[in-house]
Amino acid sequence: MKSLLFSRFLLLLPWVLIVIIVLDIDSSRAPLPALSPRGGAEGGSGGARPPAPRRRPEAGLPTIYAITPTYSRPVQKAELTRLANTFRQVSRLHWILVEDAAARSELVTRFVAGAGLPCTHLHVPTPRRYKRPGLPRATEQRNAGLAWLRQRHQHLPPPQPGVLFFADDDNTYSLELFQEMRTTRKVSVWPVGLVGGRRYERPVVENGKVVGWYTGWRADRPFAIDMAGFAVSLQVILSHPKAVFKRRGSQPGMQESDFLKQITTVEELEPKANNCTKVLVWHTRTEKVNLANEPKYHLDTVNIEV
Ligand code: UGA
Ligand code: MN
Repeated sequence: MKSLLFSRFLLLLPWVLIVIIVLDIDSSRAPLPALSPRGGAEGGSGGARPPAPRRRPEAGLPTIYAITPTYSRPVQKAELTRLANTFRQVSRLHWILVEDAAARSELVTRFVAGAGLPCTHLHVPTPRRYKRPGLPRATEQRNAGLAWLRQRHQHLPPPQPGVLFFADDDNTYSLELFQEMRTTRKVSVWPVGLVGGRRYERPVVENGKVVGWYTGWRADRPFAIDMAGFAVSLQVILSHPKAVFKRRGSQPGMQESDFLKQITTVEELEPKANNCTKVLVWHTRTEKVNLANEPKYHLDTVNIEV
């Protein structure tokens, strides 16, 4: 009886094996579903055919260049971390970080290396005479970012689809803001929350055109808008090579107007964020950190970067 069973088993075994092999070949031919839009399956080994080039949805998008002035203080790394966590989620964003310093710092250099997004790391110190309360901040740093952008693009033929905006390191940016600014043709504008002594400031829009400004502070400004409230197309930056932020004659709060005056008019502005009725960026400010209990000299045995 036992030997009968055994011979039947031997007889069936090759057939079972054949069925298993055929099933296995079949399933390895079936296309694998993509795991994520950015794909981890590309370049896999063992396939008979090379993987078909996958069209990345962001391939045709204009690059967004974000110029961020930044300076050394206890909260710097925390601010940059917050910003990188936002920017990393935006397709085709190129971060231009400009340190207010005589040299690149180790902290920012290390940070940029691990930021996980395309970064250009520049530095320029603010002259001592301009480091006073009441004077505009980050003028030299934004200009260094503009100069880098112009130099990089001046020899390339148009069209060079791109959008520039000024992203201070302490503000809060929604992801929707980047979708809005991406379609900037010349200069686009939108509301900014928590600024100008009000819950928000915004361009007032009628029939799709900016006709005035809702603001609580210096309504006489030609462009009563915060640095976080506008974007400029790369073409406009390149076709106005002399447009920069000026130290001479610039009053507090006038930097935005002084700059925008050089490249556009109020009538030309493109309102974003549902005709400027949505707040997608907030002029948050981080309070100065309390280090009252910090010892004068390092007492800890390890030196920790904060
Ligand atoms: C407001 C505006 O939102 C800024 O765009 C404008 O530059 C600034 O006023 C001004 O007075 O010039 P506020 O929150 O008062 O912003 O300024 P900060 O956030 O302290 O500084 C703006 C940017 O400049 C930040 O990215 C900051 O890191 C940088 N900064 C500030 C420097 O690079 N160096 C400094 O000494 C101070
Ligand atoms: Mn700020």
